[in-house]
Amino acid sequence: MDKIMIEGGRPLQGRVRISGAKNAALPIIAACILCGGEHRLQGVPRLKDIRTIQEIMSGMGSTFGTDGAELIVDTTGLRASEAPYELVRTMRASILLLGPLLARLGRAKISLPGGCAIGARPVNLHLKALAAMGAELHLDHGYIHARVQRLRGAPIFFDTPTVTGTENIMMAAVLAQGRTVLKNAAREPEIGDLASMLRSMGAQIEGDGSDTIVIEGVPELSPADHRVIPDRIEAGTFMIAAAMTGGDVHIEGMRPDHLSAVIQKLRSVGAELETESDGMHVRGPASLQAADIRTMPFPGFPTDLQAQFMALMTVARGSSIIKETIFENRFIHVSELKRMGADIEINGNQALVRGRDTLLAAPVMATDLRASASLILAGLVAHGGTTEVRRIYHLDRGYEALETKFHSLGARIWREKA
Ligand code: EPU
Repeated sequence: MDKIMIEGGRPLQGRVRISGAKNAALPIIAACILCGGEHRLQGVPRLKDIRTIQEIMSGMGSTFGTDGAELIVDTTGLRASEAPYELVRTMRASILLLGPLLARLGRAKISLPGGCAIGARPVNLHLKALAAMGAELHLDHGYIHARVQRLRGAPIFFDTPTVTGTENIMMAAVLAQGRTVLKNAAREPEIGDLASMLRSMGAQIEGDGSDTIVIEGVPELSPADHRVIPDRIEAGTFMIAAAMTGGDVHIEGMRPDHLSAVIQKLRSVGAELETESDGMHVRGPASLQAADIRTMPFPGFPTDLQAQFMALMTVARGSSIIKETIFENRFIHVSELKRMGADIEINGNQALVRGRDTLLAAPVMATDLRASASLILAGLVAHGGTTEVRRIYHLDRGYEALETKFHSLGARIWREKA
């Protein structure tokens, strides 16, 4: 098992290019199930989670190829409809296959995703919406079994905005009979990206980006070419790293309009940010000021950057309150940051972070994807030796070549076999 080693204390400098968004690429690859033929996708990041969805879909009869940087997906041979436990347990987003499989084949058998390190993460809202569209669903031996003749459009109200839930039902609805109206839908940019892919395939969708999405079912779709949007969470991670190390970094290919809440917060802690033609320039201040955050659905501050922002606050001047409102257990990085000398107190879903002058290098262990990123950021500013971040398979699920990119910005960071 690999580990990442970091000797902290160097300001990051230079240019870094952001990869395509994992959380946009996953539903877009799942959407290729909706019709056979060659779909050509650009900007799909090379990540473990992407390999996992490919493995599951290959097992169903789909094929994957590459043409230069393009991923070619062909689901003409799709026959099977089972997503097995062994793969689903490594990636909850496998639930995204349920909607498109029901729409194309009228059946699906998907292992029910269990809880994960950051929370219980139920999928009840996905299932309730599919049932309202006419699917028969039952749970047996840990698997969701679903069947339908043809899905029919329906009014759907999500009790809470759910990102993959909205995506799943959009994919189910594009081939359904009649109109589906999603209310209290999630508004994340990844939903807009999926909607653009579906529209290129011939789907009729309006309102993505707002909390009401209207989908008029069509009898069939055709294959499409699509470029995946840049990963806003990867971009945010580099922005925070630049601010934290007092660096000067040009982040290429990112979309500032997907990160407004984060940009505003980074300005309030003293970083200088300028939008440029192909991304943003971020300069870290000599001394960081504390600021509070509260995670919210888009366009609020993303939960996927909460751990990284907390790492930033451990070395800011003053105290910061960090409130996590999306997931009930997303403070697992706290005990590891404390091992590096951070002063953090948790009370329910709030953390009080008292900034320190510095952190100290230590061996630490990653427990989820974004927690791993926060430990790397802490390592970049830690003094007194080498920080060792273990269990980085979490990191490899969602960041493409993170240590190589930090290395190219001047960080002393490398990967070793543990
Ligand atoms: N929820 C329910 N019932 C449901 C679905 C969701 O109660 O049926 C609750 C969840 O428990 C949570 C809230 O609704 O409290 C929002 O969860 P959501 O469904 O939006 O999360 P998700 O779709 O499972 C996606 C991202 C996550 C990201 C969240 C929130 C993908 C593949 N995953 O998860 O990304 O944290 O939205 O923005 O898009 C990551 O990349 O590290 C990651 C965890």
